[in-house]
Amino acid sequence: MDKPGLASSPMTKTSPKKRIAIYAGSFDPPTDGHLNIIERGLALCDELIVAVSVNTFKTSTLSVLERVALLKEILQDKSQITVTHFENKLLADYAKEHGVHIILRGLRCVADYEYELQMALANKKMAPQLETVFMMTESRYSHLSSSLLKEIIQLGGSGHGMIHPVVERELRRKLKV
Ligand code: COA
Repeated sequence: MDKPGLASSPMTKTSPKKRIAIYAGSFDPPTDGHLNIIERGLALCDELIVAVSVNTFKTSTLSVLERVALLKEILQDKSQITVTHFENKLLADYAKEHGVHIILRGLRCVADYEYELQMALANKKMAPQLETVFMMTESRYSHLSSSLLKEIIQLGGSGHGMIHPVVERELRRKLKV
């Protein structure tokens, strides 16, 4: 029997809300480490927005739209995922506008902690309803970074086991190697 005041009429029953997470990053280029966080992050939410954004302190190799196209191609069979981009906007504002509950981030090593803590606290200040959730990057990917991969490809190395073949092909085209 329903408790007084908690009758399950259509007016009072709360419908389960979709849990939306966002994984934003420069993804210049996306690496297998990023893809691993995306795969595992799916277990935490009903919908995952993978958003290419701009770190204003970095210069990029791939354009934002090239990065979006790569992620769309790689993640095309994942119906829970939307790949998008935003620029000239705070992540906190984008998240608020899109009903996001969780900011997903990967932590590779202790050196990431200070930077990530600063961002998480700033985002919390700007959007208190958002929670940043950190996942430890699996050890087989913890040495990877987008810059490292660009250097490896630029200098004739292979991206096998570090970047998706589609990403490697695009990087080679872009870097003319
Ligand atoms: N596996 C492999 N590499 C990883 C990784 C993982 N799991 N997680 C992070 N990295 C690497 C990336 O390859 C990248 O390497 P690089 O420095 O060589 O490019 C580095 O770690 C950090 O990348 P990323 O996670 O993409 O963060 P970022 O610092 O480039 O960008 C944004 C972070 C885009 C989310 C942030 O700048 C942002 O929110 N921008 C919007 C504007 C804003 O709101 N600013 C205020 C923030 S408080």
